[in-house]
Amino acid sequence: MIAVYDATMAQIFDQAGVDVLLVGDSLGMTILGYDTTVPVTLDDVVHHAKAVSRTARRALVVADMPFLSWRISNSEAVHGVKRLMQEGGASAVKIEGGASAVPTISHLVESGVPVMGHLGLTPQSVHQFGGFKTQAKNPDAQQKLIDDALALEEAGVFAIVLECIPADLARRVTSQLRIPTIGIGAGPHCDGQVLVSYDMLGLFENPPPFAKQYARLRDEISRAAAAFVEDVKSGEFPQ
Ligand code: KIV
Repeated sequence: MIAVYDATMAQIFDQAGVDVLLVGDSLGMTILGYDTTVPVTLDDVVHHAKAVSRTARRALVVADMPFLSWRISNSEAVHGVKRLMQEGGASAVKIEGGASAVPTISHLVESGVPVMGHLGLTPQSVHQFGGFKTQAKNPDAQQKLIDDALALEEAGVFAIVLECIPADLARRVTSQLRIPTIGIGAGPHCDGQVLVSYDMLGLFENPPPFAKQYARLRDEISRAAAAFVEDVKSGEFPQ
């Protein structure tokens, strides 16, 4: 799975064989320049989901439910999902949270909505965590995460993202679930892996340490922009 926000990149990833395109609220940082995902709105995600779903032919398009957008009531949650799926063209939604999210997730699943869970370092809770830090490091927190994962599975989620937790915990969670886990900064034992496109392509200035860079596009774009400026100033382009 790759987090992606626009039509061109979605098409490239789709054609390259990526199974799931996540219209992540990480767009708040990569696209909109915020420090966290907290300010991202439903309108923001719908806007980018439209772009991604226009070019995705094969991959599953999953859209993030923004911070608090589903907490107010089940009817607010349904309203948000309606917009993401009917306007945005997503085929599933992702919700951050454990057992406390179960009533909403059950309601959505019973209403026919495919829901992906997200546990561990759930970025919408960054202010509660006091920063982007590895989660579930002590035995109590690890047991809670396992209980949360089992509760989400019971509620009907079709997969769970495990973000920034110890690799051994991700292995234990993965072995206890029937549904797939998708890891990010959670070691090699998950069923799948997800990266943010701007991190894996080397575009984002401050990628997290666990994000492998498969290209250095920031350097490449910078070089191309400087060459363009140089060519225009020197009269080399246009000829
Ligand atoms: O918003 C996002 O890109 C995500 C991934 C990091 C899983 O939630």
